[in-house]
Amino acid sequence: MIASAPAKVILFGEHAVVYGEPAIAVAIDMRTYVHAEKSEEYSVNGYPMNSRYHAYIKNAIDLCWEGEPLSIRTKSQIPSASGMGSSASITVATLTALLAMKKEIDEEKIAKMGFEVEYRTQGRASPIDTSTVTHGQGILVHKVKRENYLWKVEKNGVVWYIHHVKIPSLRLVVGFSGIKGSTREMVEKVRRFYSWNSFARDVIREIGRITLEALSPLQDEDYERIGELMTQDNKLLTILGVSHPMLKKMINVAMKHSYGAKLTGAGGGGSIIALTDEQDEVARAIEEVGGRAYKVSISKEGFRVENHF
Ligand code: PMV
Repeated sequence: MIASAPAKVILFGEHAVVYGEPAIAVAIDMRTYVHAEKSEEYSVNGYPMNSRYHAYIKNAIDLCWEGEPLSIRTKSQIPSASGMGSSASITVATLTALLAMKKEIDEEKIAKMGFEVEYRTQGRASPIDTSTVTHGQGILVHKVKRENYLWKVEKNGVVWYIHHVKIPSLRLVVGFSGIKGSTREMVEKVRRFYSWNSFARDVIREIGRITLEALSPLQDEDYERIGELMTQDNKLLTILGVSHPMLKKMINVAMKHSYGAKLTGAGGGGSIIALTDEQDEVARAIEEVGGRAYKVSISKEGFRVENHF
């Protein structure tokens, strides 16, 4: 069985989502492919399966596979540790292959199992990455149920409502700094700031407000306004202390040819995204200052069963 899942970027609301504010993420057209077949023993890409090196795949198998051992092969277009959701993508592609073998394919089931696998592997997770790469297009995560509700994810008394968001055909450039940002450290840094400073709490709320404000320009394909809101969001994230000199550099050069730009994901390294009509110029500018650029568009599809590997 062969299956695939896309990458994702967070458009609005990272960090604030940890405090119950809304966030919007989109699936992008880079994919991870997983090939699973019955075998004598468990292996991944020709090596014996190992809980350290193949943690996401092993946890996915432990969660939903009771059959014979499997030989798994993977192929990915997504750079790891870039904030593009490579772990969510491999998790969801693996689950899709396994559930397809069991003839139990179901979007909500894949998204919930995907969250559970990330949670077991990372010790903490919000469902934003796994729900986005399962569903495709765009999703909004919020603590309250709204229009276009898809499903809810619950863990330790926290509830996240996942909603479909119609996303226009955005052209984005992802600029990867090549620096691995630690999500855990960045979340912890914001938590310290949040707990002693009421200004930080205001900033978090303002990020939530911007996220909801972005819904209508996204609906109306108002790129100017989407870009402005992205840039505002970036200023607030910078105040929270999760930017990095390399991210600032890439944002500065990207802005010359973009509607807006911001860091995406946890920050402290990782990546930026720029919304632009001039993907080539932006990509060139990012590479000139030492970043790695990826020209991407929205992926309409989330998980997918494939005919070819
Ligand atoms: O680095 P990423 O893309 O996994 O995003 C992290 C997003 C945070 O809001 C910082 C944390 C979270 O779990 O939502």
